[in-house]
Amino acid sequence: MNDYSKTISFIRRTFHEPEAFIPLHEPRFIGNEKKYLEECIDSTFVSSVGQFVDRFEEMVVEYTKTNKAVVCVNGTNALHLALLLSGVLPEDEVITQPLTFIATANAISYCGAKPVFTDVDRDTLGLSPKKLEEWLEGNVEIREDKAKAKPSQPQSYNKSTGKRIAACVPMHTFGHPCRIDEIIAVCKKYHIQVVEDAAESLGSFYKGQHTGTFADIGVLSFNGNKTITTGGGGMLLFNDKQLGEHAKHLTTQAKVPHKWEFRHDHIGYNYRMPNINAALGCAQMEKLDLFLAKKRELAQHYSTFFLELNGAEASISASTFFPEPENAKSNYWLNAILLNNREERDHFLKQTNAADIMTRPVWELMTELPMFTQCQYGDLFNAKWLINRLVNIPSSVIL
Ligand SMILES: Cc1ncc(COP(=O)(O)O)c(C=O)c1O
Repeated sequence: MNDYSKTISFIRRTFHEPEAFIPLHEPRFIGNEKKYLEECIDSTFVSSVGQFVDRFEEMVVEYTKTNKAVVCVNGTNALHLALLLSGVLPEDEVITQPLTFIATANAISYCGAKPVFTDVDRDTLGLSPKKLEEWLEGNVEIREDKAKAKPSQPQSYNKSTGKRIAACVPMHTFGHPCRIDEIIAVCKKYHIQVVEDAAESLGSFYKGQHTGTFADIGVLSFNGNKTITTGGGGMLLFNDKQLGEHAKHLTTQAKVPHKWEFRHDHIGYNYRMPNINAALGCAQMEKLDLFLAKKRELAQHYSTFFLELNGAEASISASTFFPEPENAKSNYWLNAILLNNREERDHFLKQTNAADIMTRPVWELMTELPMFTQCQYGDLFNAKWLINRLVNIPSSVIL
């Protein structure tokens, strides 16, 4: 079996943990978290009305330079709402990548739609615009359906199932931006709405623009394992302010504002983030630049280590560390390495976890899960190549 003791010692030294368990990603609370939580409790505004929810949204608008941000209870229900707002209906189909966290595909299912999976790019880990276009060219026809679409608006229909392709959800894997501009251009040609799953990529930029702001709707997550956390939480990002206002209305059970009357004008959702979570979010946002700088430092440190180790440890080469893609500034949410094959990947996972260092393979492909085995998919050559090789290594902020 290959020996990864040099890598294990390096990770222990880097995290200043000679013996204790080293997790993949743990949160850091080093600012105003306790102060804001106390303020929140003292005010009694602990549910979804309060100064922190509004402030948190404003802070994210300012940081991402989007036009409107709407907090949600988590990233999964933010994705659900984003798809509903994009017009996804039961019996529609929605394209996404097979290499993603389950929430992306689950949110599509909540709408009563079926996912269709097309391949990722090896250098971004995100949806490949080229593979997407190839699949669309071979599998859809563009026509009008007055029952579903607004008259005179053409839509794409899957030639084999007859179903409408309503939307596409690319994802910025581990914080590395995908070729989102090219994906949007392809989807535009086929009249397909794009929802950007930026759950993992707060603080990541593509061609200088924040991820999640390219499509009409983007989604962030603030789960406990993310770059910043609200405990549980998510956010919708909108280019269209009015659409954002409507989304906010839907997250609050679509209650028509009135001092005492209870009137609701849509099927609404109880999706708005509570003030107590947003209090954490405001304190965490104040430290985002510091966290990002530290994460970049760690990525650089890993990259140099693997470069210098080149060949001195079996299956570790100069190209082991997965770098940020071209034209991108990644938040390096989870650092990743690429081993030579599945066997070496499994040796690495076994030895590091036995040494109490948490490492993890990438998610199983969505197409391998029982709920999605019947779904249609394109050639998944890159996704299959990646799952045999990719491993995440500890990535918490080191202070
Ligand atoms: C790609 C992706 N999409 C969606 C989500 C869902 O976010 P949440 O856990 O906040 O529901 C996550 C992560 O948790 C994710 O990694």
